[in-house]
Amino acid sequence: MGSELDVMQQAVIDEVARRAEEALSHDASGHDWWHIQRVRHVALRLAELEGADRFVVELAALLHDVGDWKSQADGKDIGGRIAREWLTPLDVPLETIQHVAGIIEGLSFKGAGVATEMPTLEGKCVQDADRLDAIGAIGIGRAFAFGGSRGRAMHDPATAAVLHQSFDEYKQKSGATLHHFTEKLLLLKDRMQTESGRQWAERRHEFTREFYERFLAEWDSRDVG
Ligand code: ADP
Ligand code: NI
Repeated sequence: MGSELDVMQQAVIDEVARRAEEALSHDASGHDWWHIQRVRHVALRLAELEGADRFVVELAALLHDVGDWKSQADGKDIGGRIAREWLTPLDVPLETIQHVAGIIEGLSFKGAGVATEMPTLEGKCVQDADRLDAIGAIGIGRAFAFGGSRGRAMHDPATAAVLHQSFDEYKQKSGATLHHFTEKLLLLKDRMQTESGRQWAERRHEFTREFYERFLAEWDSRDVG
């Protein structure tokens, strides 16, 4: 598996990066170009450590949120289709296109009770990088940015978190952002797929858990005399 890109591959990466930046630059729900840049860098570090194909990893990282169901008016995920449409005219080998599209289609979290294991090493690197950006200080910021963008309350103690058993159920959720911690964010640490990803998730997970506990302590004024 090559770790260096050839001139043609670098030109494809540059063009896809340019278009992804254009497509995501106005996002204010935590899926902006900077999210893509962070996922790209972490995924490439994982690829290097794990010996994954760098070209596939970088393409999938760049394309993974263009066409994500959360940004589509009808809630349908068209990420795989967009990957095929963008990469085919750039003369990317069909096998690579299928691999990248498959990673994007399988990437998203789909509910607490829904397995989303990635069959390939390249997919594991991109999925772990995306999940690392959903926890820790930045992950917490993104969760509230996403909730705010959908008009959701920060917290609603009158309702309970739900561990969704299907993607449809998960997609339809509209509850307060704090429930998202129980429903997704605090579950991610145990779903990391690479050894380095698992290690890097530990500290971010601890920080996320502490934030969650403090939030509830402050909500109930348990932290003041
Ligand atoms: P995934 O593909 O696993 O959903 P993304 O990169 O698209 O991952 O990130 C989803 C981001 O949106 C996360 O940071 C997550 O915290 C945030 N988010 C906040 N509230 C919700 C929600 N109710 N449903 C889905 N995502 C949410
Ligand atoms: Ni993402």
